[in-house]
Amino acid sequence: MKRSLKSLVILVCLSLLMTSLVGCTSTSKQPETQKASESAKLKVGIVQIVEHPSLNTIRESFIQELDKQGFKDGDKVTIDYQNAQGDQTNLKTICQKFVSNKYDVIIAIATPSAQAAVGETKEIPIVFAACTDPVGSGLVSSLEKPGGNVTGTSDAVSAPKIMELARLITPDIKTVGALYTSSETNSVSVVNDLKAYAAQNGLTVVEGTVTNSSEVQQVASSLAGKVDALFSPIDNTVASAMPLVAQVANKAKKPVYVGADSMVKDGGLATYGINYTTLGQETAKMTVEILNGKKAGDIPVMSMSDVEIYVNKDTAAAIGVTIPEDVLKKATVFGN
Ligand code: TRP
Repeated sequence: MKRSLKSLVILVCLSLLMTSLVGCTSTSKQPETQKASESAKLKVGIVQIVEHPSLNTIRESFIQELDKQGFKDGDKVTIDYQNAQGDQTNLKTICQKFVSNKYDVIIAIATPSAQAAVGETKEIPIVFAACTDPVGSGLVSSLEKPGGNVTGTSDAVSAPKIMELARLITPDIKTVGALYTSSETNSVSVVNDLKAYAAQNGLTVVEGTVTNSSEVQQVASSLAGKVDALFSPIDNTVASAMPLVAQVANKAKKPVYVGADSMVKDGGLATYGINYTTLGQETAKMTVEILNGKKAGDIPVMSMSDVEIYVNKDTAAAIGVTIPEDVLKKATVFGN
């Protein structure tokens, strides 16, 4: 008796379902199909701390590579790109939204974005892009075996290498002004390396820290009056105000050594930096592995090994510095 009642209920349900399906096909086939494919798409959320050329390069190259690997935006995946405009509170809101909408993966461009994402979820996979010091910034506890839901790419650079280059170009420098954002852990670790290098090589470091981009020009200007050269690590806040830093430094005829190619393009004198197009591509390849089912924590963090010299000849001319021929021969040159 019980069993037959059950089958009756199932039968009624089935027939109701059939009617509704048939109803749908005959009246509104198009929207239903669209809806179905929409929900089948994987959702990729990209969070970026601020607009500056380097982060934009990473994002564009990431999206292009994802497409190349068969995950085209609007086709197999839906990409939701959000920019926090340099604001920590926005970062949190963006990441919370990605989590509550159950995105399949979060791509966090730069350290502040990655820290915000890691603070919001232990489940949704996070792939960070271009984080200078992932362990020191608390993103992962190990580069080789991240564990958990986090992995990504690092743009770790060597402050000693940049300083060796600086001393080839301007051998007489004795004091270096470190211009950076105190809250950017990606910068703090590079400045610590700079200080260690300086202590071993008879250089003095003067620090000029900022808390947001509106302070950059003033702090750069005061540092330029005190030191022989400026040094800015891979700092997002400084990078977003780099043309202003260059203006100030050129006026004071002081070289600015930096951590990234885009900061040289924007008027810094030179760097030993990594290729951010390659970094964006590698970040996309990791993301594809995750979308195909691999666990983020099982993928080692990847650091970039292709380091190159970048110089800006316009800046050199503006401050009256001649870049040695053997440096120029190996360098990617911006300006004339
Ligand atoms: N490395 C930076 C971070 O960890 C992000 C970054 C990538 C960056 N490219 C840059 C910062 C160029 C300044 C300039 O947050």
